[in-house]
Amino acid sequence: YPPDKIRNFSIIAHVDHGKSTLADRLLELTGTIRKGHGQPQYLDKLQVERERGITVKAQTATMFHQHNFLGTDTKFLLNLIDTPGHVDFNYEVSRSLAACQGVLLVVDAAQGVQAQTVANFYLAFEANLTIIPIINKIDQPTADPDRVKEQLKSIFDLDPNEALLTSAKTGQGLELVLPAVIERIPPPPGDSSSPLRMLLLDSYYDEYKGVICHVAVVDGALRKGEKISSAATGQSYEVLDVGIMHPELTQTGVLLTGQVGYVVSGMRSTKEARVGDTLYHTRSTVKPLPGFKPVKHMVFAGLYPADGSDFEALSHAIERLTCNDASVSVTKESSTALGLGSDVVSWACSIWMFSINGLNSKVHIQNPAMLPSNPKQRVTACWEPTVIATIIIPSEYVGSIITLCSERRGEQLEYSFIDSQRALMKYRLPLREIVVDFYNELKSITSGYASFDYEEADYQASDLVKLDILLNGQPVDAMATIVHRLKAQRVGRELVEKLKKFIDRQMFEITIQAAIGSKVIARETISAMRKNVLAKCYGGDVTRKRKLLEKQKEGKKRMKRVGSVDIPQEAFHELLKGS
Ligand code: GTP
Repeated sequence: YPPDKIRNFSIIAHVDHGKSTLADRLLELTGTIRKGHGQPQYLDKLQVERERGITVKAQTATMFHQHNFLGTDTKFLLNLIDTPGHVDFNYEVSRSLAACQGVLLVVDAAQGVQAQTVANFYLAFEANLTIIPIINKIDQPTADPDRVKEQLKSIFDLDPNEALLTSAKTGQGLELVLPAVIERIPPPPGDSSSPLRMLLLDSYYDEYKGVICHVAVVDGALRKGEKISSAATGQSYEVLDVGIMHPELTQTGVLLTGQVGYVVSGMRSTKEARVGDTLYHTRSTVKPLPGFKPVKHMVFAGLYPADGSDFEALSHAIERLTCNDASVSVTKESSTALGLGSDVVSWACSIWMFSINGLNSKVHIQNPAMLPSNPKQRVTACWEPTVIATIIIPSEYVGSIITLCSERRGEQLEYSFIDSQRALMKYRLPLREIVVDFYNELKSITSGYASFDYEEADYQASDLVKLDILLNGQPVDAMATIVHRLKAQRVGRELVEKLKKFIDRQMFEITIQAAIGSKVIARETISAMRKNVLAKCYGGDVTRKRKLLEKQKEGKKRMKRVGSVDIPQEAFHELLKGS
């Protein structure tokens, strides 16, 4: 297949607008899967995707379609490059789009344009791709394709006459989709006489074959038995197997310019397969394809076993969970102060940047315990990562969104109406403020009508302080957190109140304090269970009674000093929610 008979495209859509169903119908239409015989929604392959009902990892399929184009009946090779539909995978989406020349922008005819439609549109637009709007689900009684056409014009400046009206459910309008792909989307522009350059789109681990990479050949050709190298890691491999996804792995022994397929090359872990990497023939010199970004960790979670002896088991379990996801990395650390009483304690936080003693070098801090405790080392400036959030809501919820975003330290960047009933708002928000519970709250205050998407933005100067939690005067390092100074008082108060609710009374008094440095900003006390030492003391001997009470007080003091406090897991969960 020469490049002019190849078309590479993706389907992009807001969650649930019908991307996977449409992809299945196209695979059926071309005979790539048999009608009714494929798994429901073939492209949602990984089990986690089924369980969560969303497309997490990109999966790709090749199909063949006969079409009369420019007067000749020609068989075209069409590569459908699936993209993750979830807000957290913008980079992966952008890399999949880098292998395409066009997209089908699917919009639900009843729901209209939503936040991820906007985000995905801009990714495709910035990549200079041909955009074919598809208004799907026109069979629904509440479908209003004309309103969607209006939105396409007003938000994206797309020509409403170019939109195709479909129902992936009833099949209506689907016969026009592949002809539009062939006629409107240009063929891949690569150069077949140049040295090989291919883009790594995705990878997964197969028990029998090992690491399988999905690739798009941009220039040149790849054959079985050749040696390839990675521009990102410098490692070299021998190509053991190569072919196309049709939709199962189908050996072809070669991938030519413009083709999309798989490569097995003896990589030991998916961590070696970096999404967006350029693979090329070892010993050839090529310029890496643009746009590669090494994985940048933005959100961190600490997991601690309740019982130290479970550490290895926990560590093994986490490795198994994350082995198929190259974007997760795991490091082991220990916490001296974590109490007992729960199975696994999990703790999420984001990353901050600090300048210590006014030095120019900035330190990345992901765990509050990494901040200097030496009083001579002073934090002189702090920054925190931010995101740009796009929120689309029915206009009656605008007030609630403004309140929510200002509580979360958001800065409004844009506020406009996309039609007579819907508003689009853009906010810059600290990443920290959206990691915990933002999405749930957004959904709840808008009765589920808000749609939300975000992209990473810069670090921003911020007045951050470390908030310590002390139990009986002892700081619990795993409970320390970093908060904005203006929120410290409120967060500190909430934390100690929550802890009071979740820690059981014990034989000794427990004080719970929240402190910034040496300054206590909130305090609660859990009184001791009072053992009635007087129970056995009949009669009215006041001196004896006093002696017994005195002794009890002494005992309590001792216990307070030596006593350890059990902190139940709920306490950590509750702390997490509010901080
Ligand atoms: P993610 O995988 O989460 O990104 O969702 P998606 O965009 O792939 O949507 P999916 O194909 O899973 O469809 C979501 C729901 O809409 C499913 O219940 C489909 O059966 C239904 N659906 C898809 N297309 C149509 C359509 O044309 N009409 C109707 N009535 N329902 C549809």
